[in-house]
Amino acid sequence: MVVIKLYVAITKGVCKSKKRLEGKTIIITGANTGIGKETALDLAMRGGRIILACRDLKKASLAKDDIVEKSGNSNVSIKKLDLASLDSVREFAADVLKNEPKLHILINNAGCAAIEKRRTVDGLENQMQTNHFGHFLLTNLLIGMVGLIEKTHVINVSADLSFLCRNLNLDDLNFAHDSTTGTLLAPLKIYGASKLCNILFSKELSNKLQSLAVTVNSLHPGAVLTEFGRFSIVANIFMRLFAPFLKSPKEGAQTTIYLAVADDVANVTGQYFRDCKIVKPSKLAQDAGIAKKLWEVSETIVQLKPLEKYF
Ligand SMILES: NC(=O)c1ccc[n+]([C@@H]2O[C@H](COP(=O)([O-])OP(=O)(O)OC[C@H]3O[C@@H](n4cnc5c(N)ncnc54)[C@H](OP(=O)(O)O)[C@@H]3O)[C@@H](O)[C@H]2O)c1
Repeated sequence: MVVIKLYVAITKGVCKSKKRLEGKTIIITGANTGIGKETALDLAMRGGRIILACRDLKKASLAKDDIVEKSGNSNVSIKKLDLASLDSVREFAADVLKNEPKLHILINNAGCAAIEKRRTVDGLENQMQTNHFGHFLLTNLLIGMVGLIEKTHVINVSADLSFLCRNLNLDDLNFAHDSTTGTLLAPLKIYGASKLCNILFSKELSNKLQSLAVTVNSLHPGAVLTEFGRFSIVANIFMRLFAPFLKSPKEGAQTTIYLAVADDVANVTGQYFRDCKIVKPSKLAQDAGIAKKLWEVSETIVQLKPLEKYF
């Protein structure tokens, strides 16, 4: 046990940048708890304008009060965003486009590991929509705001469980015809696929934005003791069994914070990070052809309208 703890302590990445963020606007999805909240607190301490994009405004309000109190930065606001609803994503984006003159950092952090396969109000698979389609739509709707004048960063919080996905069926991204349906492993398989999509999406977006001053990267935060297990038996058991070896939320937020502020990665794009270092994602996650096709299929699934298409 001591050896494992020592290993985790030695290998964990820490963001050492002292960069300040006055004048910068930062959106963080799923910022009312866990890794997202710790990221928001750190960036608030650096003086940024922080928008907590959360589905539950009560929880968001409590998180905001805590962040304002601990950081001394009152420039923290909350906006409603339910990634499992395409309408909610459109309403959130319209609000930001109307009321925020600039966006410098977009952190797509929210995520869920579900207990079962479930359809959203849009008829899409819940984990796929929350983790991938919702963020895909959100980023597309906001992309006109970034990179035109100042350097900006899009950061997608993925997971090493993306390695579980060995074959992404682009004809069945909502798992309507999947053979594992009904088994305990089915939700885990979908989670892995959704997190693979985060990496492929980052890669394709970074290609598309090469001519602008935008970096797009994805990351694995580590195994972190958060509320993440609350909707999934498998994740819950894992968290309870391995609690002593897991990172704290503050430790789990380090790679996200690093990508948001560190000068040594200010121009790095299209990469996957773990513990504040570039690492290789799975072979599938490096497949440029699949990344391109995923983009096209996702555009159709989220019903991106001609006026909403930036590319
Ligand atoms: N914890 C880990 O070990 C681990 C490992 C690898 C990757 N990750 C990734 O890290 C990210 C953050 O996870 P965490 O560990 O901090 O988990 P967490 O404590 O459960 O926080 C997840 C956040 O996402 C929000 N969220 C869930 N569904 C949403 C929806 N439909 N619309 C808007 N927000 C939604 C949650 O809001 P509510 O509070 O309202 O539910 C919460 O704010 C996730 O993308 C996860 O996949 C975590």
